[in-house]
Amino acid sequence: MQLIDSVAIVTGAGRGIGRATAERLAAAGAKIVVADLNPATAASVAAAIEAAGGAAIGAQVDVASEADTERLAQTARERFGRIDILINNAGIGLYTPLVETTLAQWNHVLAVNLTGIFLCSKYCVPAMQELGGGSIVNIASARAIATTARTTAYTATKGAVVALTKAMATEFGDDKIRVNCVLPGAIDTDMMRENLAEDGLTFEEGTAQFLQKTPLRRVGEGRDIANTIAFLASPEAAYITGAAVVVDGGRTIHI
Ligand SMILES: NC(=O)c1ccc[n+]([C@@H]2O[C@H](COP(=O)([O-])OP(=O)(O)OC[C@H]3O[C@@H](n4cnc5c(N)ncnc54)[C@H](O)[C@@H]3O)[C@@H](O)[C@H]2O)c1
Repeated sequence: MQLIDSVAIVTGAGRGIGRATAERLAAAGAKIVVADLNPATAASVAAAIEAAGGAAIGAQVDVASEADTERLAQTARERFGRIDILINNAGIGLYTPLVETTLAQWNHVLAVNLTGIFLCSKYCVPAMQELGGGSIVNIASARAIATTARTTAYTATKGAVVALTKAMATEFGDDKIRVNCVLPGAIDTDMMRENLAEDGLTFEEGTAQFLQKTPLRRVGEGRDIANTIAFLASPEAAYITGAAVVVDGGRTIHI
């Protein structure tokens, strides 16, 4: 897969799936804007990509902030001259019973997981329209298909990301901007380990039942998602738009 001369913005790229994706796209030759709320991790991932021979800059961005997302698109254009690829990966979890969820918590999860995709897309799409094409990949979750209790806000946002992806794919087809989403199952990242720790579970305890019900019998890794994202973002997926690609080791096909 070749992405030489392409410029990609990856949000939430300071760690986890976003970091794996930024490094995967850089390995294919893309220049990367490593966008994250945490400026230190954004800078260190960008430095690691440069040390490996790639081109990258770190950018501190709160995807829920209109001013930040507008500046993110400007930064990409000023530094690299164009925007070909946008990976809307930044997201946060919330594991609280619905009646104990405050309105502020609910609004915060929606602001990051859903409004963040709207804002980043709003400010990056014009650059893609000028180029005559582009590719956007939104990160939803297998929870858009099958979920558990105490995840109402998170699950609602991820279901909405699938619908938003289809709406965007329809709207931008004439601009040759493809829009797809990836639905990861359980992926071994800091987010997953923090969620298990909040429930007082070790990684092994927390994943035992999951593995029993997962045909491929392993937890996913960041690179499983990064490889799928890179394919969808690349010209090799030229006829794919509006798709929701499940990458979960088969977990959601098992009753
Ligand atoms: N890990 C999983 O099992 C899993 C499963 C399904 C979906 N996902 C989704 O994949 C995406 C990445 O998850 P992860 O496990 O790598 O998470 P993570 O918590 O390990 O990393 C998320 C990154 O996003 C950044 N971030 C958080 N809020 C932000 C904001 N407002 N603006 C910019 N950056 C922000 C964080 O600083 C962090 O670097 C999320 O959208 C998540 O919902 C993860």
